Formats: sequence, C-alpha cells, structure tokens
Amino acid sequence: MFKRLALLVTLVACSNLSAGQGYIYEDDLLLDTFPTDFQWGVATASYQIEGGWNEDGKGPSIWDTFTNGTTNIDDQSTGEVACDSYHKYKEDVQLIKNMGLTSYRFSIAWTRILPQGTGTANPEGIQYYKNLITELRANGIEPFVTLYHWDLPQALEDLGGWRNPDIASWFEEYARICFTEFGDDVKNWITLNEPWVVSVQGHGIGDHAPGLQGIGTTVYEVSHNLIRAHAKAYRAYHKDFAAEQGGFVGITLNVDWAEPQDPNDPSHQEASENNLQFSIGWFAHAIFKDGKYPGVMRQKIDAKSQEQGFEKSRLPEFTAEESAEIKGSFDFLGINHYTTHIVYPEIGSIDEVSYFLDDDTTDYQDSNWYPSASSWLYVTPFGIRKLMNWLKNEYGDVPIYITENGYSDHQGNLDDIHRIYYYKHYINNLLKAVKQDNVNLKGYFAWSLMDNFEWARGYTEKFGVHSVDFTDPARPRTPKASAKYLSQLASRNGFTSSVGPCSNGR
Ligand code: GAL
Repeated sequence: MFKRLALLVTLVACSNLSAGQGYIYEDDLLLDTFPTDFQWGVATASYQIEGGWNEDGKGPSIWDTFTNGTTNIDDQSTGEVACDSYHKYKEDVQLIKNMGLTSYRFSIAWTRILPQGTGTANPEGIQYYKNLITELRANGIEPFVTLYHWDLPQALEDLGGWRNPDIASWFEEYARICFTEFGDDVKNWITLNEPWVVSVQGHGIGDHAPGLQGIGTTVYEVSHNLIRAHAKAYRAYHKDFAAEQGGFVGITLNVDWAEPQDPNDPSHQEASENNLQFSIGWFAHAIFKDGKYPGVMRQKIDAKSQEQGFEKSRLPEFTAEESAEIKGSFDFLGINHYTTHIVYPEIGSIDEVSYFLDDDTTDYQDSNWYPSASSWLYVTPFGIRKLMNWLKNEYGDVPIYITENGYSDHQGNLDDIHRIYYYKHYINNLLKAVKQDNVNLKGYFAWSLMDNFEWARGYTEKFGVHSVDFTDPARPRTPKASAKYLSQLASRNGFTSSVGPCSNGR
C-alpha cells in the first residue's frame, strides 16, 4: 500500500527514475517518430461488438451458447446486442476516421458466412462485411481482418470443434470463401486470434467457450489443430489468391513478458526463457522456425507424460507433411501484449496433470505495479520493449504488428488519464524498440475502438477509447481523452514533441 502510494507520487511529480532499478521504473520518453509507412489503428472483434446475434441468417456460435441462460458471465450479460455494430458500423468507421487512423482490425463472424460452419454460404452475412469494408475504404482506412476471434459455429462444436482434426479443413473452406469474397479489398489477413486463449481458457480452465476443462491434455490437442488450421489457410491463400490479390497472411499470438526474478541468476533466465517457449513458442516455434514444438516443450511434456503413465506424450507430433506445411506459414507476426510476469524456476509436481505445471516455472505480478480493472493486467511498459527484442532474437526480422494493446477500467469515464499513461509509455517503448533496437515493427492497434463485451467479464471491464452507453438502445459512442491522445500520436507519427499530460519529454 505504502509503495503504491509512493509510485503514484512519483507519477504525479513526473520524476526521473531510470532503468535498472528493479522492475519499477519509468524511462524518459524518446522524442522521435515511427517510420513513414507505420500503420495506426484500433481493434475490435465480432462477438464483442456486433450484436445482431441471430439476424439475416447468422447461425449460433459457441459464445451464443456459452452466454445464453448461464452463469458463465460475471454480469450475466451476452453479446446479443453488444455495441450494435451490426447496425452501427458506419458510425464506427466515422469514429476511426475522426481519430485520423489509417487502419482498423476487426473480425469476421464465421457463423454469418457459414451458419452451419461448412456447406452453404449466407449471402446476407457476406454482404454485411462487404458493406463494412467498402465503408472503410471509402474513408481511407485499411482493413486488417481476423478470420477467427473465438466465435466458432456451434454446429462445428457439436462435431468436436477444435478437438476434431477435421477442423483444419473446415477452417480452410471458410477462409477460402473470405479470400474469394473480400480479398480484392482486404490485403492483410490474420488467421487466428490468440490460439493460446482458445486452448487454455476455452479447453483447459473452461472460463471461455466452449467451457471444457482439460488443462493437461485437451489443451495440447486443440493447439495442435489450431496450428494445422492456420497453416492450411495460409497455404490456400498463397496457392490460389496471393498472385492476383497481393495480400499478406499472419497469425496473432498473445504473450506476456516474462521477467526473470533475479536477472543475474542463470536459472531464473532459463525459467523466463521456458515460460516464453511454453506461451508464445507453443504456437510460434513451428510456424516461424522449424515446423515443430519448442525443444523444451517436447522434452518436458514427453518426460512428464511417461512418468504420469500416459501411453504417449500429451503433446502430439506433427507429421512430416504437416511440419512442412506449417514451417514458414507467415507473412507477418501479430502480437497482442498487455502485461508482464516475474518468473522463477520451480519444478512442477507430476501428481497433477496440468499445462501450468509442465514448464517448471512459477510466476507472479508485483503488487506495486499500477493495477487495472482486469485482475491479470498490471501496467509494465518496459515489458513490451524487452518482448520485441526477444521476438527479434528468436524469430529473426519478421514484420511485427502489435494487433492489441490496451488498458481496462471499471468506470468507462471520459477523462481516462490512466489509459493515456498506459498508451504513452507502451508506445514510447515500442518507438525505442524500432529506433534503438531495430525491431521491424510495422504498426500498432489499440484495444479497443470502444467499450465492449469483455468475454467472461461481460460489460464490467472497459477497454475502449470510446465509451458506449449500454443502457441506451441507441448505444451512443463518446470519445474519451485517450482517443484524442492516440489521434495526436498518430497525426505526429510518434512523439515529435511532448504530447499530453506531464510534458517536458516525459
Ligand atoms: C484479448 C482478446 C480481446 C480482448 C482483450 C482484453 O485477449 O483478444 O478480445 O478481450 O484481450 O482482455
């Protein structure tokens, strides 16, 4: 408590703590700009904003099932109406335009395109996204389109969903329709959003749809099929669409920075490395390196599975053909990053079968860090720069987009100074990664354009740079101070002069 107060005093006084003082410090801002072609955008996802859950032929998704008539959501809310973007998309585009941003990341609801997941396409669902894309282009905004942001068709879940290996072909079929219908106007595609969350929260812990609990087993089956599905969509694009459409396909992975508790202790450095391999490496290693899971995952999970009496490893293996398809299946890497954990080594017991014990590390967050409305989100701007350097080191000079980064509060108040602090210091650390560390960062998408349905938290946690009045059927949107702050950064393409509160370059 005392320390938190002390930190607050430090912030208000804008005093000059420098790097190297443990994991609480605030660097001087770098006054410089991003490369001229840097993309500035905001992000959303279909289930979180669209509403219109059963309109114009849309089929039900696993999130419709997971929310309806259950106690799975804190405030017992659903995405049935959400921000009503199904009807208000033109207004959304104007919000982005008014901010002066160049790009918008949104996702397509699979169930609008293919209500049953496969088979007959739904022309009205296709038309909705054509209208949105046309509106964006007419306003000079580049669409970055996510094919899968967690709203799987319920019809496919009934066939086993991500546990069924056939899903890789179902996903390819859906992706091909999207490439065919929208590919003339969409040049940047993201196959999957955060497959880690789909695996761990959807199929391990069960606090996300479809609510399954196989934390040491199902999670690995599901991740396997997610990676296979991603690669099939990527290959389909490059075989049949890229030559004519000239676009790019990547994947968005979530990753928290893993700060070694004692940076000088090699075992803590190793714990940090292992934590990163088990989080982002789980998905990235095969795609961005060699078509296989990270060596440390293979070794640890194989050994533990054997000791635990499993017939074969809980971590599946890709066939040679799959490996070849997966390896190199990227044009860029999308990163969703929010926070940091402090990590140290601890041998995980084999008595319990759990992904969380497989990596032999433990982690925590420093209670002195600024908190947010989300229990997992502490404000740690230094982590994003370290992460950028780790990614460059691990995967080479791959083009990176920050496809999500943002801060939550409960109030949704318009004078959202905490969110401005967050954006200022995270984005400035990214600028340092670009200018001082030569990281190949191509763009930045703030999460989120507006307050929306925050999954199991319902409408209780707000990440928007616009507030939405969810009590009003018209769902009016109002810009917060952070929207103005981001548009200033975008118009200056960085920090050419002091921007926002606490100036003098700080
Ligand atoms: C991400 C997710 C978003 C959003 C955000 C804030 O994991 O992709 O949909 O909810 O977190 O929690």
